[in-house]
Amino acid sequence: MRAIILAAGQGTRLRPVTLTMPKPLVPVANKPLLHYAIDMMRDGGLTDIGIVVNSLESPICAQLNDGSTLGVNVHYIVQEEQRGLAHAASLCRSFVGDEPFGMFLGDNIFQDKMTELMRQFESSPYDAAVALGEVSDPTRFGIAEIEGDKIRRVVEKPKEPPSNLAISGVYMFRKSIFDAIANIKPSKRNELEITDAIQYLITHNGNVQAYKIQGWWIDAGKPDAIIQANQLVLGDLPFSPSPESEHFVQSDISHRVIIGENTKVINSVIRGPAIIGKNVTIQDSYVGPYTSIGDNSVIENSELDASIVMKDCVLRSISGRIDSSLLADSSEVTSASKKLPAVHRFILAENSYVQL
Ligand code: DAU
Repeated sequence: MRAIILAAGQGTRLRPVTLTMPKPLVPVANKPLLHYAIDMMRDGGLTDIGIVVNSLESPICAQLNDGSTLGVNVHYIVQEEQRGLAHAASLCRSFVGDEPFGMFLGDNIFQDKMTELMRQFESSPYDAAVALGEVSDPTRFGIAEIEGDKIRRVVEKPKEPPSNLAISGVYMFRKSIFDAIANIKPSKRNELEITDAIQYLITHNGNVQAYKIQGWWIDAGKPDAIIQANQLVLGDLPFSPSPESEHFVQSDISHRVIIGENTKVINSVIRGPAIIGKNVTIQDSYVGPYTSIGDNSVIENSELDASIVMKDCVLRSISGRIDSSLLADSSEVTSASKKLPAVHRFILAENSYVQL
């Protein structure tokens, strides 16, 4: 069975990180968000994957290439204008052909791998299946009203939500969805909504399965959500004993810490769960739980907790602990010299956020 991943968004809520990196490539526990969706699909038997991107120049194409390193075949479908999830799906019509297929939103991450949902859909009696998760703020999502294992009604971002069961970004469809898409009109936000196409199926006697997801789910659209996803993924790391290496000197490294090749840890403390990339230097520092540090970064004389530091970053001589922070590739944070005047100095991109 084939699958599509929608990854053509502009990632505006995650600027400035997404000014240079599409949201699906933002790392969570040192792995791009998109890889989590691909891993799930491959394990569910969906190995021919069409990824909807906004241009073939997208870094997503360069990063994933033909998908072979992840054990899948990746094809790219270009959606030049983001005219809605249903519009993006309709562009995949010839890629999926007449067979049932899975559809994933490229910015969601799940604890539930939904293997059974993917493996059983083809032989199921359903016209579509939608994964649903409980949320505390249902006005921000597509919401479903269910009866037993069937969806009775769906509505996109309702002002008065009929339930707290949100459409979570994993869908299974048959070719009937393309007919439904051809029959819907753009919504108030001027998008062709997949939620409206699903409602069209229901109104026309389609049976839509409600699949309730187990465990956590994050729509990783904003910095706080990415940091939370990082904590949840690291929280699921299985036990591993404290790592040992000739590159670790006078340091205290706890269990559930994964450290890449050639990383030096000198006179420092690392508390798991945490993941540190390759060629990193950590010196005279404290790295606390739920932290990810990307390849080639340098952490000196600093303390950090529950944060994402991507690759090629420098943190040097920072007073006070850095907490719940997100530093994109090649960011640098250092302290000013002790000479007066004592100043703060910033070179920040649009939408940067600094808390002193
Ligand atoms: O996260 C779950 C929610 O995702 C659902 O509850 C909603 O029913 C569904 O409409 C969707 O709402 P969002 O407003 O959060 O969708 P967003 O615009 O963030 O797009 C989701 C993904 O799809 C994102 O990775 C970008 C991609 N996309 C989006 C649009 C509008 C495309 O590839 N093409 C598009 O035209």
